[in-house]
This record gives sequence, C-alpha cells and structure tokens, in this order.
Amino acid sequence: MTLKNDRFLRALRREPVDCTPVWLMRQAGRYLPEYRATRAQAGSFMGLATNPELACEVTLQPLRRYALDAAILFSDILTVPDAMGLGLYFADGEGPKFERPVRTPADIARLAVPDMGSSLRYVMDAVSLIRRELDGAVPLIGFSGSPWTLACYMVEGGGSKDFARIKSMALNEPAALHRLLEVTTDAVIAYLAAQRAAGAQALQVFDTWGGVLAPHVYREFSLRYLQRIAAELPRGDGADRTPLILFGKGNAPYLEDLAATGSEGVGVDWTVSLGEARRRTGGRVALQGNLDPATLYASPEGIRTEVKRALDDYASANGGSRNGHVFNLGHGMSPDMNPEHVRVLVDAVHEFSREG
Ligand code: CP3
Repeated sequence: MTLKNDRFLRALRREPVDCTPVWLMRQAGRYLPEYRATRAQAGSFMGLATNPELACEVTLQPLRRYALDAAILFSDILTVPDAMGLGLYFADGEGPKFERPVRTPADIARLAVPDMGSSLRYVMDAVSLIRRELDGAVPLIGFSGSPWTLACYMVEGGGSKDFARIKSMALNEPAALHRLLEVTTDAVIAYLAAQRAAGAQALQVFDTWGGVLAPHVYREFSLRYLQRIAAELPRGDGADRTPLILFGKGNAPYLEDLAATGSEGVGVDWTVSLGEARRRTGGRVALQGNLDPATLYASPEGIRTEVKRALDDYASANGGSRNGHVFNLGHGMSPDMNPEHVRVLVDAVHEFSREG
C-alpha cells in the first residue's frame, strides 16, 4: 500500500523531503483527556495495552489532533519480560514492577524467548489493527526496550535510582548478566521481527538506561547488544527496508559507535546539539531528536524559537540541507503538559522547515 505521507520514512532514508517530519515520544498518554477517558474505560494500563481495539484507539488519538508524521504503537517495553514470566504489574502511582524479578544465575537459566504467537499475540493484533485503521495515512512505528534497559527492570524488579542490583551483577557475576542479555536480545529481535511481520513500518529500540553506565561498562553491557540487534534483525532491502532507530538517553558519548552499528537512525537526547551529533555521525545515519521535553512548558513563542534553533542547528551542520532529520523530543512527554503547546510545536516544525 502506498503511504499518503511518507516523509518520516524518506527522512530515515536521508532522501529529500518537503518539510521535516515530526513525531513525539509518548505522544499517546495522560496529557490527553481522551487518553485518560479510554484508560478509565480499560480499568488499568495493562488492560489498555492488552486490548487491541483500545490500544488502537489511543494510538490514533494524537493523530486526530495534530499533523504528526508517524504513529507509534501503544504498548510498553515491559511486555517482553512480562511474557518471559516475570509478572508485570503497575502499583498505583509507583510505576512498573515485577512480581518475580531475576536475581540469581538459576533465575536467569530459567528464562527463554517467549512465543510471539501466544503470549505476545495481543501486541501483533494491535499492530495489524492500527495498520488497517491508519489506512496509509502515516507510517506505524513498532518498538522494543534495549536488552540493557529491559535487564535493568528485570533485575531491579521495577524502576531504580541507583541500579545497585544490576550494577552489582555486572561486577560480581558478569557471565550470568551476559546470559541474561543474550536471551533478552534474542527475545527483542524476535519481538521486533514479529511487529514488522504484523505491519510495523519502522522500528525503534529504547535504551533508556544505557546512560547510567561508565563508558567501558556501556560498551560491554549495552552497546554490544544494540550492535547484535542492528546486525541480526531481518528488515528487507533497498527502498523496502524497514528502518531501525536506536534511541538512547545519555547516548551522546557513543554517537560514532551507534552510527557504525548499521542502524538506519540514531535518536539523541538534548544533552548534545544536533549540529554536533550530525558532525560526529558524518551523515552515515539519519538523526532523530532532540528538544528537551521541558520546552513544552515554555510559551508558544518560546517553543517556536527552540524548534527553529534545533532545525537550523541540524541543517547548518548538514550542508544547509534538512535531509536526514526526524524531529522529536529528546525523551518522552509528561502527563502535565499542555495539549495546545504540542500543536504549536508540531506546526512550527513543518512551517519553519518548509521555508527552506
Ligand atoms: O510513545 C508512545 O506514545 C508509545 C507508548 C509507550 C509507552 N511506554 C506507554 C506508557 C512507549 C514507547 C513506552 C516505552 C517505555 N516504557 C519506556 C522507554 C521509553 C522511555 O520513556 O524511556 C520505559 C522505560 C517504560 C517503562 C514504563 N512504563 C514506565 C517508566 C512507565 C511510567 C509509569 C508512570 O506511572 O509514569 C510505564 C507506563 C506507561 N507506558 C504509561 C504510558 C502512557 C503511563 C501509564 C498510565 O497510563 O497509567
């Protein structure tokens, strides 16, 4: 099926675009009153994520409001460890938790790649339904957590401030942690391949917690597995290739390494300028990012100024061309953000990038 709007995929192929494409991490979520209403109907976050009709509805909600250039599957990165038997639950106001965290080599030895056709069937059903409902309006992005980021939640049992348990495992039982990361990488590759088979037209890996590591530890426990994903994930050839984006919070020190993995895109946060990111990656990958999400707390004029600055920063390092840039925030949106400010941001990206 031909897409009505393919500028997101064109940008990832570094082809010319009429204006810079934009989507926002966590574009579906609690800042939207219609999301809160659907979530109330579902009863819980997992009730929403495991119901393909409702997951499809909340995926489409931000696209009805804003001129976004891509949809992202409504789901969560923790569906994979949940399907590996860890028992995901959301305690009210406390974020995600696992009933059975992975703490010992024996726990790790019991883990296996989950069956995509049964325990994660609901995700693939949501992908196919969203594709059908989008009807070619914009491409659909599928996603996974990175092996390191998933392992953080699996070992810590939930969110963490200091990552004491998984860092202890890296120091004292590195072989066991590598076994955990190997099986999780196999699961991530199977999960992304299944989303692609179900209809996802681009794939993003979220390495939310790679940035908490010292450089040599990052290279050993996070980067190595991102490299495996980029090398081994089947994604077609030529114009039909399904692009892979490696996003990482705090990945600025590793942009050269990430650009060399073979992924089509690299997503960056706001601690590096897009100009510097473009110079250091040398045009080998498309770049995605990178406004500080807090920019949405600025006035409409303040938001427009920052959008223009980011667009021009990229273009000035890219020989004056906007090709190869996907506009985004540097991390996800927060529940207290003003929906009207999102409109200002999205429209400003298109307006300023169309002007040349
Ligand atoms: O971007 C999108 O619109 C797609 C949906 C999406 C969600 N989670 C929905 C969600 C995506 C891409 C994710 C990924 C995710 N989940 C990450 C990586 C991205 C990142 O932010 O770095 C991480 C670390 C998680 C784990 C997770 N799930 C957390 C930390 C939370 C928040 C808990 C809270 O209460 O704030 C979740 C739950 C979650 N996932 C929500 C949403 C909209 C909010 C839960 C709710 O509606 O109650």
